[in-house]
Amino acid sequence: MSLTALTTNQDLDPQRLREAFGAFPSGVVAVAAEVDGRLIGLAASSFTSVSLEPALVSFSVANGSKTWPDLRRATRLGLTVLADHHGGVCRQLAGDVEHRFDGLQVTTTEDGATTLDDGLARFDCSLYREVEAGDHTIVLLELHAVESVVAAGADGPLVFHRSTFGRLAASA
Ligand SMILES: Cc1cc2nc3c(=O)[nH]c(=O)nc-3n(C[C@H](O)[C@H](O)[C@H](O)COP(=O)(O)O)c2cc1C
Repeated sequence: MSLTALTTNQDLDPQRLREAFGAFPSGVVAVAAEVDGRLIGLAASSFTSVSLEPALVSFSVANGSKTWPDLRRATRLGLTVLADHHGGVCRQLAGDVEHRFDGLQVTTTEDGATTLDDGLARFDCSLYREVEAGDHTIVLLELHAVESVVAAGADGPLVFHRSTFGRLAASA
């Protein structure tokens, strides 16, 4: 299959954009914290590592998010890189706010950063900067502590691609 020539005056309607963006596979993180005694959070596939010095990561949050206005008030936020067995957990973390943490094993620091106990990597972060970006806001987070699973035979990452979950194929 070959691509026809790109023309610059195409209609960039949301459906067309979603399809094209969906060609790019990504991992998924849980962004979570305890705020006012309540666990809140969401799933985000827009996570990206940004900088080593200072240590920064980012994700983009939709401006219509009902959770972000509360989550951004947390002193510290927890990020967890989801594993390939977390497809259902991811849907739960994106679903009904009242049940996002039902049955999940989590750890919350004194400052409120909340991470899943069985993730592939965990980050303790604070809000560094927010950048307006169209209908989303790019959230830059500064890292204060990290932990990752490096053991041989450990789970692989959850992969989100074309609106479905998958896993990395084992290399030959
Ligand atoms: C695989 C997956 C990836 C998602 N990635 C993002 C994301 O990067 N940014 C975002 O704002 N919402 C993302 N969402 C949606 C949020 O998890 C959540 O459903 C949405 O923010 C609505 O909930 P809220 O109003 O409580 O924020 C994703 C959902 C799924 C299932």
